[in-house]
Amino acid sequence: MPTRRQVILAIATLTGGTAAYTAGYFHRAASRYNDAVRNTWRHTTEHPPTGFLAVNRELVRYATLAASSHNTQCWKFGIEDRTIAILPDWTRQCPAVDPDRHHLFVSLGCATENLIQAAQAFGKHGQVRFDSAIDVVNVTLEPSKAVISPLFDAIPKRQCTRAEYDGRKLSNDDLKSLESAGHGNGVNVLLITEKEKVEKILEYVVQGNTMQMRDRAFVDELEFWIRFGYDEVVSKGDGLFSGSTGNPVIPRWLGMKLFNLFFTPKSENDKYAKHIRSSAGIAVFVSERNDKEHWVETGRCYERFALQATALGIKNAFLNQPVEVSALRPQFADYLGIGDRRPDLVVRFGYGSETPRSLRRSLDRVIVA
Ligand SMILES: Cc1cc2nc3c(=O)[nH]c(=O)nc-3n(C[C@H](O)[C@H](O)[C@H](O)COP(=O)(O)O)c2cc1C
Repeated sequence: MPTRRQVILAIATLTGGTAAYTAGYFHRAASRYNDAVRNTWRHTTEHPPTGFLAVNRELVRYATLAASSHNTQCWKFGIEDRTIAILPDWTRQCPAVDPDRHHLFVSLGCATENLIQAAQAFGKHGQVRFDSAIDVVNVTLEPSKAVISPLFDAIPKRQCTRAEYDGRKLSNDDLKSLESAGHGNGVNVLLITEKEKVEKILEYVVQGNTMQMRDRAFVDELEFWIRFGYDEVVSKGDGLFSGSTGNPVIPRWLGMKLFNLFFTPKSENDKYAKHIRSSAGIAVFVSERNDKEHWVETGRCYERFALQATALGIKNAFLNQPVEVSALRPQFADYLGIGDRRPDLVVRFGYGSETPRSLRRSLDRVIVA
């Protein structure tokens, strides 16, 4: 029969052992995540690729570093000698937040822009054509002089930085650079920096967020795409990593419990108020026509804007609630005074520190030919 002292000692050893094992496990998982970050967010290493297949695969790798709604990476790539096709991956749609697939096509546009910037660095000029009959972006590549632009250089440094910024304003020159980067064919960007207007946009964000958080389908879809732990984000290589949004990195079962307890309209709205009030301004992307071709173009404009911001040391993050809630979008358009044109994206910008990074799936999972 063990003595009381022996039982206490055994329990203490077991508890200590479990804690040490858990700490060790967490440490190993964090280290796998850090390796994945280093391997994902990088320029071409060591031996530059040669031959069209290897170069085009590398261009696709750069394309996959683009932003995508909920980090679904809703794209597939078809590679040929002189063309790369960017196709929608319909299995990665988000019907609750994006019922008309607007964000899906914007995401394809983001990938397209990274690909064009990278192609130039590899001595290829890319011509983009959207084939609306089959919903495919075709990029034709022709040999040209290699140019390493600041936008190309910014590709592995860009991120959506969902944190409070430091409140500093941008210079007029930097605002002009962002405006011209975000301008495209039938797409414009409005830069809003006046305090009262920014406060009014915050009201729309709060209204939209409250409506979305009361929508069970929206919340379920969001939860599906959240990656709560290191193991989960590394094995899937997609989705919204908890750490990137300033939330604890914990196992999924615990994350789901905390999410249901603490993810409330009030907590989220308070966070958005801090995020917006600490930003230097808000950019609203507006397209002339509400069709897939313009949505792709909007994605290209946003990605260029984000790369230009990154090159200037400026952070950005989306606040799309006013354009995602279809009942709110026309009122928001009215407020902006843009008539019948569609407000596509709402993005805040300013100065701040980098946050933990999202990951990407491997090339073999996105290249189809
Ligand atoms: C069309 C589109 C819509 C997006 N909407 C939001 C949004 O409303 N809120 C948000 O925090 N991030 C939004 N994002 C950002 C993505 O979640 C982000 O790109 C993705 O998680 C990958 O992170 P990264 O861009 O930092 O690599 C959006 C991205 C795109 C392309």
